[in-house]
Amino acid sequence: MNTRAPAVEARQLIKTYPGAVTALNGMDITVRPGTVFGLLGPNGAGKSTTVKILTTLARPDSGTATVAGHDVLRHPDRVRRAIGVVAQSSGADPVATGRENLRLQGRLHGLKGAALDRRVDGLLERFALADAAKRQVKGYSGGMRRRLDVALGLVHRPEVLFLDEPTTGLDPRARTAMWEEIGRLAGEDGLTILLTTHYLEEADRLAERIAIVDRGRVVVEGTPDALKGELRGDAVHMELRETVGEAGRALLGGALRELRGVREVLIDGRRISARADNGAAAMPALIGALERAGVTVAAATVARPSLDDVYLRHAGRRYSEADADTGAGLVLAGGAR
Ligand SMILES: Nc1ncnc2c1ncn2[C@@H]1O[C@H](COP(=O)(O)OP(=O)(O)OP(=O)(O)O)[C@@H](O)[C@H]1O
Ligand SMILES: [Mg+2]
Repeated sequence: MNTRAPAVEARQLIKTYPGAVTALNGMDITVRPGTVFGLLGPNGAGKSTTVKILTTLARPDSGTATVAGHDVLRHPDRVRRAIGVVAQSSGADPVATGRENLRLQGRLHGLKGAALDRRVDGLLERFALADAAKRQVKGYSGGMRRRLDVALGLVHRPEVLFLDEPTTGLDPRARTAMWEEIGRLAGEDGLTILLTTHYLEEADRLAERIAIVDRGRVVVEGTPDALKGELRGDAVHMELRETVGEAGRALLGGALRELRGVREVLIDGRRISARADNGAAAMPALIGALERAGVTVAAATVARPSLDDVYLRHAGRRYSEADADTGAGLVLAGGAR
């Protein structure tokens, strides 16, 4: 494989499921070899569907994709040999031991004898599972199970590793341990890693580049620093006593935008949001300007920019609203700092 070619490239992937569910609606991704790429988005955004297509477990309706230089539709067998996959739900056999799971996986990939023993021992050691190797997986903690999942994905030394929500449901300590391990895999082993996550903090920590996905397509892509840089300053949210009409909105917007250090003023019915270099310092001026315009503020909050703010700007609605669309629970942690 040409080392300068992307390790993963998806172009305009479309995927619909029966019942007219559009899971992917023009998904584009490019991942440089030897880097960690983070696919970030709310429930139902299309993260797992993208992973399934790139790992040859599902076919797109249209669009193209290559992984490790191989076309996923024309050479799925070659793709499978080049990749490791850690699915969103664990693939380990709960009634087998950790060692048995790894040995089976190794045999499936053609390893045997001393080479298999060495590989399995090495992985057990590396993922701090040596002491638990003889225990059934159903007795493992969430963190141990997830570490075993990653070890299973690495048995055959893949070039590209797919991690679908590797830390969802883990406690903070197990999550930090997993982050360290993922960082090592990319840094020392030169693996290309595509990970999906709900956590901006996770993508921020691990990924060289992040793509935020919504409704089956990428809404914004870039380095974590660039995405955070866009959101410098505090998020200010105000709730008004009364709804502001069309005419009032233009006037009010104009007045607020003139205040020093205040920008990105959005007025939507009774809600006003804006960004300010220093939210607390800007608040008296904001409230003063509103009162001069005859508008009363019922409640106001100042917060550090969060994933919700990045998302609001690019998807045009809140993360929590996107989540409500699917009716599924969403875990939001951390925020852009
Ligand atoms: N097998 C399927 N049959 C029908 N609809 C599906 C199927 N798999 C996924 N979908 C739908 O496709 C959309 C995208 O789902 P997908 O699992 O890719 O989202 P996701 O970003 O991984 O979400 P989550 O964060 O909840 O894991 C959702 O609306 C989902 O309900
Ligand atoms: Mg998913």
